[in-house]
Amino acid sequence: TSILVLNGPNLNLLGQRQPDVYGHTTLSDIETDCVSYGEACGCAVACLQSNHEGALIDAIHSSKGLHDGIVLNAGAYTHTSIALMDAIASVEIPVVEVHLSNIHARESFRHTSYIAPVAIGQICGFGALGYRMALDALCAHLGTTA
Ligand code: DQA
Repeated sequence: TSILVLNGPNLNLLGQRQPDVYGHTTLSDIETDCVSYGEACGCAVACLQSNHEGALIDAIHSSKGLHDGIVLNAGAYTHTSIALMDAIASVEIPVVEVHLSNIHARESFRHTSYIAPVAIGQICGFGALGYRMALDALCAHLGTTA
């Protein structure tokens, strides 16, 4: 089983970016943890981050036939990108939406997600742990056994 952990804009700055909101864990810490956690669950985890909407869409397109599922933190594109929503709907790969912060407890513009209607589920508010939760959910959905 192969899973892509895909992170969007500004998540490359994790650890230094608003640590009161997003914590002190870096993206590289999260990616390393996802790879080892995935291994324990019987999944090969690949990781990608981009600040560019089109690059994220390209990554979703090229996941078809390559990855069985995607863990996606689309950052602020979550709240704006119909194009990302359409890309997910087009590839028919199960996606679990993740956010470090609880987007529903923040500004109202963060309450809307264009990813949620095309994701199998959403995990938010648990910080970096959310990525492990998403991998668990995706593995269970895919019927992966370690
Ligand atoms: C985020 C929440 C988004 O609203 C924000 O724009 C981000 C990070 C999160 O992980 O909590 O960039 O996706």
